[in-house]
Amino acid sequence: MDSLLSVSDIKEDVKYILDLASKIKAGEMEEKPLEGKTLAMIFQKSSTRTRLSFDVGMYQLGGRAIFLSSNDLQMGRGEPILDTAKVLSRFVDGIMIRAIKHSDVEELAEHSDVPVISGLTDLEHPCQALADMLTIKEHLGDWEGKKICFVGDGNNVCNSLLLIAPLLGMDMSVACPKGYEPNEAILETAKEYASENGTEITVSDDIGVALENVDVVYTDVWVSMGDEAEAAQRKLDFAPFQVNADLMSLANDGAIFMHCLPAIRGQEVTSEVIDGPQSVIYDEAENRMHAQKAVLYYYLK
Ligand code: CP
Ligand code: NVA
Repeated sequence: MDSLLSVSDIKEDVKYILDLASKIKAGEMEEKPLEGKTLAMIFQKSSTRTRLSFDVGMYQLGGRAIFLSSNDLQMGRGEPILDTAKVLSRFVDGIMIRAIKHSDVEELAEHSDVPVISGLTDLEHPCQALADMLTIKEHLGDWEGKKICFVGDGNNVCNSLLLIAPLLGMDMSVACPKGYEPNEAILETAKEYASENGTEITVSDDIGVALENVDVVYTDVWVSMGDEAEAAQRKLDFAPFQVNADLMSLANDGAIFMHCLPAIRGQEVTSEVIDGPQSVIYDEAENRMHAQKAVLYYYLK
């Protein structure tokens, strides 16, 4: 069964899905295309945006979503992922999961008879990347020839952006401290996509270099869910990578600031930037729902 675990799973259809998302947002879609369909939503980690956007999105498409906390599921007590996948497949039309381990989601998808959609793992956050690209198109007009710089931790959000940016004709730079680079295999794949599409991917600990000719400055928390034990060290290591007004001044005039949220003002970004005129964070959050409605239509219809 086709599933969305990585941006690579929709490599050929990214533009189609984003075009569909724009149409859905503009109201140019049939009414309730997912009438009678049900989505199970498994959460092993906290969520505001992902949970709400999938739940409201399913409702608006005419279907329904069922929230399943992993604490309440038998899976949380050790029921095998195999049995969970097989049983859920008998009840629902799709499974959305936010998981601690990417490999667990791969196992779930392998045994599921319905599509599995990742709502974040330790490796990727593909739905976030789709919403981000929808937001960039709305604010910058197009992706082609534009450059995004991810500043901070080479984490799940960064990994998915690395894969999606070249597929849409964007250059991408990552500015991160040594030791916090993006996943190596993903970086390699992203560079392949970049060479296929004539774009460029660079990773550097030199913020000035990474921010040359940048149209989008993106950051995320220094301490992701699951990294809490390293919090003190991370705060020291990432301090020079805070997105503040000085750093923003290195980007192009008219550059936008993005953050997947939740954010910690005063750590990875100053309130001057995240609450300032260049920030598009609430459009970005809203677009989670429009992009995911397109994903749900694509996989469940
Ligand atoms: N950006 C994002 O995934 O937010 P939540 O953790 O609130 O779902
Ligand atoms: N990198 C963050 C993203 C949260 C949406 C985390 O994994 O916690």
